[in-house]
Amino acid sequence: MSRRNLIVGNWKMHGTVSESLKRITALGRKLEDIGTTDVVVAPPHTALYSAAIAAQDTGIKVAAQNMHWEADGAYTGEVSATFLTEVGCEFVLIGHSERRKLFHEKDEQLNKKLHAALAHELGAIFCIGETNAEREAGQTFERLKEQLKIGLHELHIHDIEGLNIAYEPVWAIGTGNTATTEQINEVHNWIRAYLEKNFDGPTANSIRLLYGGSVKPENAKSLIACENVDGLLVGGASLDPDDFVAIIEAVA
Ligand code: 13P
Repeated sequence: MSRRNLIVGNWKMHGTVSESLKRITALGRKLEDIGTTDVVVAPPHTALYSAAIAAQDTGIKVAAQNMHWEADGAYTGEVSATFLTEVGCEFVLIGHSERRKLFHEKDEQLNKKLHAALAHELGAIFCIGETNAEREAGQTFERLKEQLKIGLHELHIHDIEGLNIAYEPVWAIGTGNTATTEQINEVHNWIRAYLEKNFDGPTANSIRLLYGGSVKPENAKSLIACENVDGLLVGGASLDPDDFVAIIEAVA
């Protein structure tokens, strides 16, 4: 089955509304033909609404970086899936390692977020990955299995449409230490096999697997060439429209 490539720029906590708009306008101008690649940017919550408006007619879609699983209620500081779709979001990142580490998000909570996101037809980008200590201790697959098992708990075949999984080894994020294609192949092939074991073949094969961690214009081509890499989740390099466009073009 052929899966459309998905390139996501995670802007993290970078960018006021006006800075985000500047970036998105520059991207729209430079990206003449996205072709068959899905291009998504994830600005901070405050810029989502205007970013979605600015992205209209460019082919670029907008993602949130986080959400709560409840529809509404006494959850100070949180936003729900309906709030996100209302402002034009089509995707949401779930379980980024910074959310896990700095804000103590647990696999069980991420599972609830995934259920809520998919139920609201948001494209979910579920992030998993091991720390350096886990890799050194030979626990990479144990950790990934735990993240997948709990994160995808009780998601059934009919829920899965719109699910994407991003493998982001924590040690590769913002460090310049991109995982090698050998390491990526090993993990991505393992994830695909895990999905095939837990869902039926066509469902497992419809899920896009993204790699993230020090993706740059120089390495994008070799990363996307890996058999089970269907997209890239880009942090730092997505802040510079020239670099992000170079990544998208390398993939196309
Ligand atoms: P960098 O591309 O800056 O390593 O960040 C990766 C990331 O965290 C994307 O979500």
